[in-house]
Amino acid sequence: MRIYFDYNATTPLAPDAIDAVTAATRDLFGNASSVHTFGQQAKAALDHARSSIAALIGGDPLEVVFTGGGTESDNFAIRGAAEALEPTKRRHLITTAIEHEAVLNTVKALARRGWTTTILPVDQSGIVSPDRLREVITHDTALVSVMHANNEIGTIQPIAEMAAIAREYGALMHSDGVQSAGKIGVDVRSLGVDLFSISAHKFNGPKGAGALWIRRGTRLQAIQTGGKHERNRRAGTENVPAIAGMGAAARLAVAKLDRESARVAALRDRLESGIVAAVPGTAVNGARDRRVPNTTNISFDRVEAESLLIALDLEGIAVSTGSACSSGTLEPSHVLRAMGFQAHRTQNSLRFSLGMFSTDEEVERVIAVVPGLVAKLRGLTERSGKAGRS
Ligand SMILES: Cc1ncc(COP(=O)(O)O)c(C=O)c1O
Repeated sequence: MRIYFDYNATTPLAPDAIDAVTAATRDLFGNASSVHTFGQQAKAALDHARSSIAALIGGDPLEVVFTGGGTESDNFAIRGAAEALEPTKRRHLITTAIEHEAVLNTVKALARRGWTTTILPVDQSGIVSPDRLREVITHDTALVSVMHANNEIGTIQPIAEMAAIAREYGALMHSDGVQSAGKIGVDVRSLGVDLFSISAHKFNGPKGAGALWIRRGTRLQAIQTGGKHERNRRAGTENVPAIAGMGAAARLAVAKLDRESARVAALRDRLESGIVAAVPGTAVNGARDRRVPNTTNISFDRVEAESLLIALDLEGIAVSTGSACSSGTLEPSHVLRAMGFQAHRTQNSLRFSLGMFSTDEEVERVIAVVPGLVAKLRGLTERSGKAGRS
């Protein structure tokens, strides 16, 4: 039995998404910009997917621009807003310490080009306070970028409150919704954002497809130059099969959201309480009451998370130490560090993220396996005389 509890890194494709990708690959090879029937059939598939993405997040289809994934959507939102607002002399960007690298490194790149940047802190809840935003925002702020749900600990940020503050100061509000879309209900209008990023492979669609929702009337410069695709917003021939797969995954997510989020939350809660009850010296990282339903991040005293991850993999169980980018290295999580945890806690925490194909049986197996592995690793550490940190 192989168990995949790493849905925040990526998800397996939903059968509907596989069918849509397969059918479009086989039947819809036309260029969606072509005038002939082959092209128009491909364009119809894009339009269908555009409506499905709009329905997933509560937007209008004409506000949805397809991209090559979450990273591109984040780059487009931040760089596009910065470039569009440069002539207004607004030269200040605000983001948070717990963003994904797609946002953090884009903001850092703009800082090197002369933009003033402010990184908002978080406390141990893993939730950014709107008060912190109010303290630093000015009339020179061009853009505020705050993720909707965190990829490592799952916490949901108070986007609506922060968007209201951004609006008061005339700044644009972007939210990276890569980890929220498809997991919880998203309504871009009630969130009050101007820009919202999503990525298909986080909600059972294919990799390399994503979208940026751009509120009608938002000043945003295209960052990729070329043809007039996507109504001049994003040049490049659209990847019709991947986008069709994303559309199918979005329709499925909308149809099953309430049922699935309750089912997955129950599995996650059972997993979390089962592990915490069976293993002494554990703690859940981040606020438990404001999280996406599929994620738990647990620290294990006196255990190197990487060693536990490898031991679990040998048992056929796939989990993560946090962001996929940091796996394979011993770099402590920037999210847990930003939350103020000491070095050992940033290195002894594991993320378990569940999803569409997760079952009770899998949860029970993980609860049964983890205590023995932790005890064994702790024993090894103690015998080798390493510091027994807690
Ligand atoms: C919060 C968040 N933003 C952005 C990304 C990047 O998305 P993609 O892998 O589609 O480029 C990820 C993926 O891990 C993510 O979790």
